[in-house]
Amino acid sequence: MRFKKKNMENIQVSNYGVTAKGDSIQKYTLTNKNGMKVDVINFGGIITSLTAPDKNGKYEDVVLGFTKPDDYFNGNPYYFGALIGRYGNRIANAKFTLEGKTYDIEKNDVPNTLHGGKEGFHTKFWNIEPVKDAKSPTLKLTYTSADGEEGYPGKLTTTVLYTLTDDNALEISYEATTDKATVVNLTQHSYFNLSGNFSKTITDHELQIYADKFLPVNETLIPTGKEKAVQGSPFDFTTSKPIGKDINANDDQLKKGKGYDHNWVLNGSGMRSIAKVYHPESGREMEVLTDQPGVQFYSGNFLDGKFDTKSGGKNEFRTGFCLETQHFPDAPNQASFPSAELKPGEKYQTKTIYKFSVKK
Ligand code: GLA
Repeated sequence: MRFKKKNMENIQVSNYGVTAKGDSIQKYTLTNKNGMKVDVINFGGIITSLTAPDKNGKYEDVVLGFTKPDDYFNGNPYYFGALIGRYGNRIANAKFTLEGKTYDIEKNDVPNTLHGGKEGFHTKFWNIEPVKDAKSPTLKLTYTSADGEEGYPGKLTTTVLYTLTDDNALEISYEATTDKATVVNLTQHSYFNLSGNFSKTITDHELQIYADKFLPVNETLIPTGKEKAVQGSPFDFTTSKPIGKDINANDDQLKKGKGYDHNWVLNGSGMRSIAKVYHPESGREMEVLTDQPGVQFYSGNFLDGKFDTKSGGKNEFRTGFCLETQHFPDAPNQASFPSAELKPGEKYQTKTIYKFSVKK
């Protein structure tokens, strides 16, 4: 089906698959005037494909994903392309205290909670509606998480907008409200490989992160609470360098993360450019903009070759990277971190943009 109304001719919907619970899943394809396409499914709000041009103007898929719908439906072990909630990243020892009450949440990354729990937002059925009066093709995704779901307090009403603009940017806007004090940290877990060849490692991509500090972690990847200057360390991406340049350095933090799997403390505040990634061979460049205080740069260290990739071969070690914009991991337990609390009457509102271009 093609939406005929004004501004909706660039959204197509097709059947994607049926989950074990019997939910019929649709795929929505956004197309901009240049022919860039983004595919989103209403299971997990997952981006299953996103194309970007190379230096010859060729649009290719640059996000990792499965070849079979069931691999998303039955667990998605890497969180490929998914919306993450209620709390992106880790919460130490799967508990936190809010207004004097301790909440026990699921230890799905023993001893911690990771990405909202096993049945986090990446596994939920999201209602999707194309937005009629939007300037660029836009999908509105909504999900209401019941009070107590996955152990978190408050009924959380969540809206996410995916907009594909004519300057080849995917804008993601998140909103949430609650009826009880709670914590919230929503993010998007797309893995990128700008080569378009998902069996190649991403160590040749050149990365710049506008952050003078990062958050060192303990053995279970929980921040120690201290910020550390990146200067003079493998964590220094203040000037662009290949991801692989220092990734195998003899460094205690790189050993703990099996590579990069850390949160950078972003310079500045408000909506700003926070990172750029350039793939010299294809000429593709991606810029990330956000209003969030942190970004988790994850170099795909847990990818283990168990699944086929969309372009052939297997999803081997470090064949994708994520730049997950967010509040800091474990903020609910760390008073010195920017607060991730949301109270009734307040509105959680944040935006992240992934913008694609070509550098010649
Ligand atoms: C996040 C985490 C990683 C890993 C991936 C999913 O990025 O920081 O440690 O768990 O998700 O595989």
